[in-house]
Formats: sequence, C-alpha cells, structure tokens
Amino acid sequence: MSGETYVGAIDQGTTGTRFMVFDHDGKVVANAYEKHEQIYPEPGWVEHDANEIWENTKKVINAALEDALLEPEQLEAIGITNQRETTVVWDRETGQPIHNAIVWQDRRTTDRIETLEEEGKKDDVQQKTGLEPDAYFSATKAEWLLDNSDPIKLQRSRPADVRERAEEGELAFGTIDTWLIYKLTGNHITDVTNASRTMLFNIHDMEWDDELLDEFNVPREMVPEVRPSSDDDHYGSTDADGFLGAEIPVAGALGDQQAALFGQTCFDAGDAKNTYGTGSFMLMNTGDEAVMSEHGLLTTVGFQRSGEPVQYALEGSIFITGAAIEWLEDMTLIEDAAESEKLARSVDSTDGVYFVPAFAGLGAPHWDQRARGTIVGMTRGTRREHIVRATLESIAFQTRDVAEAMVEDSDIDLSSLRVDGGAVKNNFLCQLQSNILDTEIVRPEVDETTALGAAYAAGLAVGYWETLDELRDNWQVDREFNPSNPQNVEHRYGRWKEAVERSLDWARD
Ligand code: G3P
Repeated sequence: MSGETYVGAIDQGTTGTRFMVFDHDGKVVANAYEKHEQIYPEPGWVEHDANEIWENTKKVINAALEDALLEPEQLEAIGITNQRETTVVWDRETGQPIHNAIVWQDRRTTDRIETLEEEGKKDDVQQKTGLEPDAYFSATKAEWLLDNSDPIKLQRSRPADVRERAEEGELAFGTIDTWLIYKLTGNHITDVTNASRTMLFNIHDMEWDDELLDEFNVPREMVPEVRPSSDDDHYGSTDADGFLGAEIPVAGALGDQQAALFGQTCFDAGDAKNTYGTGSFMLMNTGDEAVMSEHGLLTTVGFQRSGEPVQYALEGSIFITGAAIEWLEDMTLIEDAAESEKLARSVDSTDGVYFVPAFAGLGAPHWDQRARGTIVGMTRGTRREHIVRATLESIAFQTRDVAEAMVEDSDIDLSSLRVDGGAVKNNFLCQLQSNILDTEIVRPEVDETTALGAAYAAGLAVGYWETLDELRDNWQVDREFNPSNPQNVEHRYGRWKEAVERSLDWARD
C-alpha cells in the first residue's frame, strides 16, 4: 500500500473481535476477525475471559495491518466499538481482571432486580438512567463481582477483601470499551454512550449518580472518567514500545449499537437503524431531547462530539436474533448461517410453527427476565425447514414489536429503515422484514457500519474527516427491499403475539 493514511476501528462484539481499517471514502481496506470462548458456568450465566479479548484485539490489529501491507503509522487514529453492558473489574496495579467478565446476556442478577422492584425503586432508576431496570445492565453485574470474586485472584501479596480494595481505589470497573482503552493507553476512561448502559449514570446530568452508586454498592473510586464519543482531546495513545510499535491516538468510542447509528449517518432526529447481530437493536435518533418511553423502549445516549450537545436515542433492544441462528447450528439443524436462507426458501410457510427465542428473557418491549425460549404449533409433519423459517420470522416479528413501540413513542412514521449487521446478507430475511413491517428496508454498501461508526468518531476527532456531510456523502445504498407478497401478515403477527404470551414468565419457580 502507498503512503496514504487511514483510520482503524476495533469492533469488540459478543462472539468475536474485529479490526477494520477504512479510507477517506469509508471503504474497508483491511479486516481481521477472531472468535472468543463463550463460558456458561451455570444455566443463564454467560462469561467472557477479558484477557482473551485483549489478546485477540492485539492479534486482529496486527493481522489486518499485515494482510493489507499497512504500517501502523498509516493509522491516523483508532476508534473502539464494543458489546455494551458486559462488565469487567480489574486490579489497577497488575492490570489483571479479578474475575471473568459478566456478559450482557447473563441473568444471574435477576433476583436483585426483582428486589429493587419490590422496594419501589424502579421508577426512580428509570427516570435517572432512561433504562428499564434489568439484569442486562452493568450495575448489578458490578455489584455481584464485588460480592463474589475470589480475593486470591486479586494476585496481590496479601489476600484482602475485594470490596475494601475497591473502596481504596485499587480496583477499576469498566465496560469492554473501558477495558480496551485501559489496555491500549493506560487511561481509565469510558464514553458517554457506554456510561449510559451501566444503570449508574444519570443521562440528564451526564454524571455518575451518587444515589445509584450507593444503591448498587459500586464505590465511586472505581468508575472511569466519562468523555465524549468523539474526543478532540483523545483518550490517550498506543505505546510506541507496545505491541503496535507506534503511537496512535485512541480518540473515539461508542457502544456498538450507537456506533451503527453513527456509521449509518443517522445524525438527525427521526433517523433510525436496526442492527442484526447476536441480538437486534433498533435505535432512533431523538436529537438533544431525551424522549422517555411509554411503550417499553430505552432512552439512551446516541453520541456526543467534543464541545457539542449530547444526542439521545430511543432504543428497542432484542436480546436474541442472530444467536437463534447460531443455536440452529449448535442443534445441527443447519450447517452454517448461509444455509438458513436456502432452507427457509424451500418451504412456503412455517406450517403454523412459531419460535420465540427468549433464551435470555425478553427485552424490549416486554422486559420479562423470566421468559424462556418456546416453540409452539409443531405437528408430526414439522420439518427442520419449518423451524429454520420460524427462526428467521422470529427476528422479523421481534423487530416489528419494537418498531410499533417506537412509532408510538416518537410519533414519527417509520417509512424507511436502514439495516446492517451480519444477518442482513440474508436477502430472504431483508424481504421478510420489509413484508412484516410494511416498510422499505435499506441495506447500505458497507454493512459493517458498527466499525465504520467507531472509525468516524475517531477520525472526526483527529481531523481525518472534518464534517458530518463528508460522512453522509460516503453512505451508499446496496439494495432496497419493498413490501411484497405479504402472505397474511396481520394474522401471522397476531399468532406471533400469542406465542410470545406463552413464553412469558416461564422461569418462575
Ligand atoms: O447491548 C448488547 C449489544 O451491544 C451486543 O451487541 O453486536 O455483540 O450482539 P452484539
């Protein structure tokens, strides 16, 4: 490659870590990916090894640069985007986590949230954070880590009480962005979007909230400094003597769903996108107003550029969509994700089968922590093709559930929806989504908009891009899908809702 310069983005997702390098037109010039282990210590628990994530991050950065014959110095900046809410606590002295990271899908703190509800504290938490109190968010995960981690694992000369160490400021709390910024730059920093997912951060005052820190027993000494998503002051730089061998500014970070909103150039109020990853997350920019939902959506921070007001978003968080396709693979019903399209097309319908993949409870708009996966309507004639088709339909139906809530809350008609994420390669799914939503679905050329959004945030901070209009100009349509052949959609959607009813509250003892 020539001496041109680029911007890099680390996309640390639930199933793996990607590093992508983008040019000034927003085109991908380098790309490497590495999966990491999913650890399931008990039913409903999900953990990641934060050290493995860091090792993989270094590996994919070096691999992408090597493959594309790029020198690290050709990167003007690095941005980070990440699976949100997943919680790490580490020892500041050794840089070692005190426990595996607790993943956003983990349900171990469900009881704690129910206690909060019983004590009548739910509304107050919701008012401050914009979040529907749930085990999904970081607060109860951090509390659990401080109460349950093994002091020996602190790897210090003398075993000590974990909470005591935290109060003395010897432990650091962070989401995955924070962990990676710390490892890359040595600084303990998060961005506003990730902070807004912890359930410890007041999204109106834009501050860590003392009452919430108190409620969840998270000492203020361990929370990171909160900075804009695109930070002209930079979070720090990589170490010239470190793994990269160059000093590159780390200048942008956004939670992955907010990064996709940014990468899809949804910069104005009313712009919306849906990302189909492990879960699906529909976000609508609501400008500088934090619109509080009355229909089961979250109010969250969309992004912030240095010196500019915070932009808020409404979010419909669906926990399991792509993960349901992975589950089909695990059950050997399909060989790989691509086969799901072929099998679903090979039958005309699901033959009355509905699959509610509530493996981690149900998120928006139901918020039922004890919902569980349910398949209804099977007969002796049900074949794997029907189950596979029902899985793809469940993705589209869940999206309609949140889209309807979004229209109610925002009063904005959804005439067109920008989509991205791994599953939108599946044309059958995109067409199905258009039919079920009765809305135009627009797939952009660069479907890795999550990484692109993080690159944009970092690139704007260092002046690689100057204006949002340059980014808007980069955005190009790959394909549009318009509603056609609706096949009894309203009746099927009604049946879907009945299937959802059957999955609710299943895990109550
Ligand atoms: O809130 C969880 C979300 O950020 C996870 O995203 O892309 O890893 O499924 P993804």
